[in-house]
Amino acid sequence: MPRRVVLVPCPFQGHINPMLQLGAILHSRGFSITVAHTQYNSPDPSNHPDFSFLPIPDGLSDGQNFASLLNLVLAANVNCESPLRECLAEKQEQHGDIACIIHDITMYFAEAVANHLKVPSINLVTSNVSTTIAHNAFPSLLEKGHIPLQGSTLHDPVPELHPLRFKDLPISRLGDLEAFFQILVNMYKKKFSSPIIWNTMDCLEQSSLTQRQQQLQVPFFPIGPLHKLAPPSSSSLLEEDSSCITWLDKHSPKSVIYVSWGSLACMDAKDLAEVAWGLANSNQPFLWVVRPGSVRGSQWIEQLPETFMDTVGERCHIVKWAPQKEVLGHRAVGGFWSHCGWNSTLESISEGVPMICRPYSGDQRVNTRYISHVWKVGLELESDELERVEIERAVRRLMVDGEGEEMRQRAMELKEKVDICTSEGGSSNRALKELVEYISSF
Ligand code: UDX
Repeated sequence: MPRRVVLVPCPFQGHINPMLQLGAILHSRGFSITVAHTQYNSPDPSNHPDFSFLPIPDGLSDGQNFASLLNLVLAANVNCESPLRECLAEKQEQHGDIACIIHDITMYFAEAVANHLKVPSINLVTSNVSTTIAHNAFPSLLEKGHIPLQGSTLHDPVPELHPLRFKDLPISRLGDLEAFFQILVNMYKKKFSSPIIWNTMDCLEQSSLTQRQQQLQVPFFPIGPLHKLAPPSSSSLLEEDSSCITWLDKHSPKSVIYVSWGSLACMDAKDLAEVAWGLANSNQPFLWVVRPGSVRGSQWIEQLPETFMDTVGERCHIVKWAPQKEVLGHRAVGGFWSHCGWNSTLESISEGVPMICRPYSGDQRVNTRYISHVWKVGLELESDELERVEIERAVRRLMVDGEGEEMRQRAMELKEKVDICTSEGGSSNRALKELVEYISSF
């Protein structure tokens, strides 16, 4: 009988995707997969017919009752522990086939459940290693008064966190600082004894991986990018609009800039207008994802200036949600304006697409710094406010100028390194084999 791995994702798109990709990889290596998920942002089982799904009563209703998404994460950790424990205890008694529980590091309640059931648990970290090294430095930065961040020092380097500046520190905007630090404390307070799976790879973060391994002394499995090792699938919570692929088919190679800011970032109507005119004035074709509800005060794009569509015509295609991996792999896409979520970053790098970086929150700031200053495959929009002139200039720098061509070249070189990591004998491939052996040994 195949051994069962129980997955516990954090209920946001950027966390669900890598967890279900990991599930697909482990399933292809012979494990049965159960996804124990909150009812809030529940994944669609029909997209994953090989998995079984276990909804956990979460008391989160539609997420409306919480001051912020961070408070929702805190509540999920409190509310879900006993229902998951009861469900899994019953299953384990009936079948006795649970090999281990793999949980998102933010869903730390699942580790308590695993301890109760006496089954091993493994953490999945869906952001990069450099971010957790920065988190680790927060107590001392707080003590020295560097956090909350202060205007005058934002561009100064953070001691011992090269290449980060204070403005690059991974502080979340998705709630108050108190809720953010509470989650970090809960995540890191235990003595780390469980192994960690990272959605990252040697060729991007070798020195950070070595440093963090020395700090934690637990087994590490850097097996990214997960989407490259997993069979193709989608775990989108929103419906993907494939009209953008037909639209891309009409464009010449590397001519289109793709614009998307992930599943959580929001903007004001003023930002929407600046972005719209910046893109329009760049004279480049663009595919733009505007997620429903992401413009404050409107359902979708009702607040776009009236003359905008007439001005851009066929040069622009706007959708509510795109099949992003397919878009980034399309020959017509030559650049990606991204909020630099870690999944988007990995997806872009894996296809050799250079980026314009405009981080919104948390780890995206760290990713931006690495994309622009370490891997040098993107440029950062630095100003606090979104301004059409700066946007127009950035798009032309990336899509038209020699500087953009050099970034594209480096992005292609980085893509080749990623391909080596995931191919037979590469570091991610080896780490995956070790992970499979490790789980099989339970
Ligand atoms: C957040 C954080 O930003 C990220 O850094 C963290 O590691 C996980 O949580 P999110 O803001 O949603 O995630 O960004 P990102 O990590 O880029 O994940 C978004 C996912 O949605 C990507 O896998 C992307 O392919 C997908 N997506 C996005 C689509 O499929 N279609 C779209 O139109 C936009």
